[in-house]
Amino acid sequence: MARASFGQIFTIIDLASWLRWLRQERSEGGFQLNDQTDSQLFLGHPKGLVTLFFTEMWERMSYYGMRALLVLFMTGGLTGFNPGLGWSQIEAQAVYGIYVGLVYFMVVPGGWLADNLFGHQKAVLYGAVVIALGHLVLAVPINETFFLGLALVVLGTGLLKGNISTIVGRLYENQGMEDKRDAGYTIFYMSINIGSTIGFVVCGYLGEKVGWHWGFGAAAVGMLLGVVSYIRYRHLLGDAGLLPNSHDEGVKERLILRSVFLFIFMLAGAGLLISGVVTISPRDFAENFAYFLTAVAAIYFVYLYFFAGLEPDEQRRILLLLLLFVAAAAFWSGFDQSGGSLNIFARDYTDLNFFGFEIPVSWVQVFNPIMVIIFAPMFAAFWAYLAKRNLDPSYPIKFVGGVFLMALSFGVMLVAVSLALQTGTVGVQWLLITYLLQTWGELTLSPIGLSAFSKYSPKKYTGQMFGLWFLASAIGGVLAGILGGDAMDSGLESMSPTFTYMIQYYAVIAIAILGLAWAINKMQSRNST
Ligand code: PHE
Repeated sequence: MARASFGQIFTIIDLASWLRWLRQERSEGGFQLNDQTDSQLFLGHPKGLVTLFFTEMWERMSYYGMRALLVLFMTGGLTGFNPGLGWSQIEAQAVYGIYVGLVYFMVVPGGWLADNLFGHQKAVLYGAVVIALGHLVLAVPINETFFLGLALVVLGTGLLKGNISTIVGRLYENQGMEDKRDAGYTIFYMSINIGSTIGFVVCGYLGEKVGWHWGFGAAAVGMLLGVVSYIRYRHLLGDAGLLPNSHDEGVKERLILRSVFLFIFMLAGAGLLISGVVTISPRDFAENFAYFLTAVAAIYFVYLYFFAGLEPDEQRRILLLLLLFVAAAAFWSGFDQSGGSLNIFARDYTDLNFFGFEIPVSWVQVFNPIMVIIFAPMFAAFWAYLAKRNLDPSYPIKFVGGVFLMALSFGVMLVAVSLALQTGTVGVQWLLITYLLQTWGELTLSPIGLSAFSKYSPKKYTGQMFGLWFLASAIGGVLAGILGGDAMDSGLESMSPTFTYMIQYYAVIAIAILGLAWAINKMQSRNST
C-alpha cells in the first residue's frame, strides 16, 4: 500500500515526460533501447551527454546563482530598498554551511533511491522538478517559507547531482567507450562551470540590484529550463541508468520504509525546531552536523577497511582514498568560503566600483568558473605532458598540491585583510588572485578525485564510493559555514586569526598526507617482496 501511493505520486510528476517521450519517439518511427549506431554519437561522444550537459548546466546555474545570494540575503539589513533577514554573521554563515553540507550529504540517500527504486534517469527528473519548486518557493517574498525553499533544493539536489554524474559514466560503459569516459567527465565539468557563470551573473545582478526574490526566481527559471530540456532530450540517454540496479522487492520495500522514516524524522525535527519546542542555534546545529558527518565517514572507512573482506591491495587503496577524502574535505572547507566569508569580504571591504558602476557582489565569484573553463584544458595538457615523460605526480602529491594552493590563497587573503585594516577597503584584485589560486587547486584535486574514486574503489562498492566523494564536499561545506562564522564574527579583526588557523590546519593535513602516503608505499613494497 505504502509502495503504491509513493509510486503514484512520482508517476504523476513523471507523466508529462512520458507523454512527450511517447509522442516524439513514436512519431519518429520508434526508439530502440541499446541502439548503438553512429547516430548515437555526437562529436565522438555519446549523444546522451548533450542531455546531461544542459540539465547539469541549468541545475548548477540555479545552485550557484542562489548560493551567491544566500549569505547576502540572510545578513542583509531589515530595511532599505532590498530588505534581507538581518541575521548575525555567525547565524547566517552557519545556516549557509548546513545548507551546503545537506545538499551534498543528501547525494548519498539520493544514490540509494536511484540504485534501488527509481533508476538514475527518473531520479534526475524528480530531483530537477523538486529543485525548481524549491527556488520557486524562495522566489515568493515571504520569509516564513525560506527554510521550506532551502529544504526542497536540498532534497532535489540529493536526487539529481550524484545520479546525473553516474549516468555520465553509464553512457560510456553502455557504448563500450570507457576509454573516453574521463574526457566525458571533463566536458561535463565544463557544463557545471558554464552554468555557474550564468548563475552568478544573472541571479547575482537581479538579486542584488532588483530584489533578492527576483534572483531566486531567476534560479527557478533556470532550473525549469533544465527540466524542459531534460524531458525533451531524455530519449538520447537510451537505457543508461534507466532501470534500478536492484529488482529485489524486499530491498525496495525496506528502502521505501527507510526513506519514509527518514522523511518523517526530518519533518518532526524541523517541526520541533520551527515551533520552538526545541531550540538550538544554527551554529550548534552546524557543529553537531559536522561531527555527525565525520562519524558517518569514519564508520564507513573503518567498515570498508576491516570488515568488507577486502584483499590487502584493495585495503591499501582504501587508505589512499581516505587521504584523498581528508584532503578534499579540507579543500572544500576553503573553497566554499566564496559564498560565505569571502562573499562578505567582497561586500564590505572591497571596492567594487568600476567607472561609476557598482558591480554586484556576487559577480566577484564568477572568476572561479571562468578560470576553470580557461585553465582546465591547460591543466589536462600539463598532466598529459608530465605523464608522457613519466613525471606525473602521484595521487597524494596532487592532493597535497590542491591543499597547498588553497592555503596559499588564504595567505593572499591575510595580506588583503591587513591592507583593509589600514585603508578600509581594498581593490578587487586580492579576491581575484585568491580565486585564481583556489581554481588551480580545484583543477589539481577535483578531477583526479573523481577518477580516483571510480578507479580505486572495490568493484562491488563503486556506487557508494561516489557518495563518499560527495560526503567530503558535505563536510567541507559545513566546516565552511563554521569557519566563515568565526572569520566574520567581528569583521576584519576576526578574519586574520581564522584564516591563519586555516592555513595551519592545511599545513598539518598536508604533512599528514605526505607521511601516510609514504607509510602506505612502504606497506606495499613490504607486501610485494
Ligand atoms: N564546481 C563543482 C560543482 O559544483 C564543485 C564540486 C566538485 C562540488 C565536486 C562537489 C563535488 O560540481
